Amino acid sequence: MVQDLSPYDALAALDFQIAMGADMAIGEDPLDRYALSAAAAEQKAKAPAQAATPESAKATPPPVPIKADPIGDARAMASGASSLESLAAALAAFDHCELKHGARSLVFCDGRPQARVMIIGEAPGRDEDIQGRPFVGRAGQLLDRMLAAIGLSREATDAEAAVYITNILPWRPPQNRDPKPEEIAMLKPFVERHVELVSPDLLVLMGNISCQAMLGRRGITRLRGNWSEVLGLPALPMFHPAYLLRNPAAKREAWADLLALKARLKRGEQP
Ligand code: URA
Repeated sequence: MVQDLSPYDALAALDFQIAMGADMAIGEDPLDRYALSAAAAEQKAKAPAQAATPESAKATPPPVPIKADPIGDARAMASGASSLESLAAALAAFDHCELKHGARSLVFCDGRPQARVMIIGEAPGRDEDIQGRPFVGRAGQLLDRMLAAIGLSREATDAEAAVYITNILPWRPPQNRDPKPEEIAMLKPFVERHVELVSPDLLVLMGNISCQAMLGRRGITRLRGNWSEVLGLPALPMFHPAYLLRNPAAKREAWADLLALKARLKRGEQP
């Protein structure tokens, strides 16, 4: 039954129908549209007499609709969170983002909050949506191998070797489409508060979306490898591991960036 479908499955069913060439929604029973338009015309002809508005009603102004303020609400909810748990709860209660209703999971974080390195990715994909953890699909497995090459891991228990991982968006966009600017804008206050609460030594911005959100700039090919400052912290833009899977030749630059990250961590240890 259609009403038993989850939003996720309903979206998948709709995708399937669109892929099969369906371009119009129709019902089970035939509709006589000629009869409908005749009835509508008749209704319209009667309308002026019925709709005559009394003078007293004209004088009352219609109620002013309260304008939704997703960014303002996000700022208030994020700044009110005093722990990672309460930030996750605030995100779960945030209702302005449509993505929430099509996703299975709120993907908040993985790794160790005491880590010196915080990685900010783009958005969950299918695997992340299913498991509720960031970077667990193929790109995530490559990310784990890249981190291991410089002695870092999301499972490490000591802060020196640990990483903490989150995304700009906590909900999977349909068909993994790019996040829209308004989605980024309304979720950014949560990411900023997330960074404040984790308080890492360094940020790694994985890919264009992360750079667009945190630096206000795109063009990862030029940005990568160049340290910037975000929320008072050193931030290193890097190629996204999903990009590296599609463009293995770019792994050479990614390796150079990993070495730069390792060197910066080492320098930070010195008094
Ligand atoms: N890509 C991302 O940017 N984040 C994830 O969690 C998974 C894939």
